[in-house]
Amino acid sequence: MATVRLAAIKALNGSSRLRNLSCSLNHRCKALSIRAFSAAMSPPSKAVVYDLHGPPDTVTRIIERPPVELKENDVCVKMLAAPINPSDINRIEGVYPVRPQVPAVGGYEGVGEVYSMGSSVKGLSPGDWVIPLPTSSGTWQTYIVKEQSAWHKINKDTPLEYAATVTVNPLTALRMLEDFVNLNSGDAIVQNGATSIVGQCIIQLARIRGIHSVNIIRDRAGSDEVKEKLKKLGADVVYTESQLEVKNVKGLLANIPEPALGFNCVGGNSASLVLKFLRQGGTMVTYGGMAKKPITVSTSSFIFKDLSLRGFWLQKWMNSDKAEECRSMVDYLLDLVREGKLKYEMELSPFNEFHTALDKALGKLGSQPKQIIQF
Ligand SMILES: NC(=O)c1ccc[n+]([C@@H]2O[C@H](COP(=O)([O-])OP(=O)(O)OC[C@H]3O[C@@H](n4cnc5c(N)ncnc54)[C@H](OP(=O)(O)O)[C@@H]3O)[C@@H](O)[C@H]2O)c1
Repeated sequence: MATVRLAAIKALNGSSRLRNLSCSLNHRCKALSIRAFSAAMSPPSKAVVYDLHGPPDTVTRIIERPPVELKENDVCVKMLAAPINPSDINRIEGVYPVRPQVPAVGGYEGVGEVYSMGSSVKGLSPGDWVIPLPTSSGTWQTYIVKEQSAWHKINKDTPLEYAATVTVNPLTALRMLEDFVNLNSGDAIVQNGATSIVGQCIIQLARIRGIHSVNIIRDRAGSDEVKEKLKKLGADVVYTESQLEVKNVKGLLANIPEPALGFNCVGGNSASLVLKFLRQGGTMVTYGGMAKKPITVSTSSFIFKDLSLRGFWLQKWMNSDKAEECRSMVDYLLDLVREGKLKYEMELSPFNEFHTALDKALGKLGSQPKQIIQF
């Protein structure tokens, strides 16, 4: 019997039928193994990495990273867009309080589309839009694998660039308005860096709450146009720093009450101007240092005005177990975006022009809108 079967196989062996059969089996096996492989692995990812801390335009490069294995609770996300924020630049420079271990992938927020998932993931499907919850590193790359708990599903009707930028700056604006001084409708705030995304969000979130805003911008080309844009967002008044070189800045408040709360993201003289506007017992919250200059406070501001100086850092706020609160704040902010109540200027730049976008974000080409990398 065995001899007969062997003879039959041998007879078939040279025939084209057997060759075809074995070819098609081979093909099917290969297809199956590729499918099994791609279900468990991410695609290779293109990423902006830095191997050393230093000037971002010289230490960053784009490389291809190998596929990553997906565990049962992991979600692989194809990134759609991610911004270049000042803190991303500071992290690469190595001057941020948290120094990422190098080599590292840049970027701390963004939006992407679910590409594939581990076997235990529930409530997400391929194609869903998700954002990484703060503080999430390595968003400047085409595919990211993280546990499901690190992602937040959002409404796909959201404009891409807003979805990509909601978790750092708008969230900071919201927290700072709510966490330091109990403000009521009719009260006022004062801020510098009013053209920043945080500044633009503060103007609009304050306006929604009936709070007036006094805004300071730096002297720059096109400042009249900038003032008009900020007023359209809801700013009550906008002054350049040089306009505030007067004896009594409060004379410029007209009908606006003296601000109880001030925000400073610049430092140096610009911070002193915020302090000058504050009322007796007012508070200034510092959250950035764009001018890289220290804050100087007169002795009399403490003795006769009893001012308070505070600081805000989103990363610290997030570390205190705020993931659930963060999800509802993101939903609230993106609802405002979809309702047209929260806007800010941005520019989408293709990923293959990353280094031009980076130069713009570094200020090498003058004042530019926030750069959003589109993958
Ligand atoms: N503490 C936190 O948790 C936290 C969270 C989010 C953001 N931040 C900080 O908030 C600040 C704003 O961030 P963003 O992403 O909203 O900013 P952005 O949209 O990138 O805008 C940058 C802002 O900085 C101004 N600026 C740039 N260089 C300057 C200089 N040398 N002197 C004075 N002003 C300068 C720009 O003014 P022009 O429009 O005139 O160019 C613009 O207003 C940054 O310092 C950032 O690190 C802190």
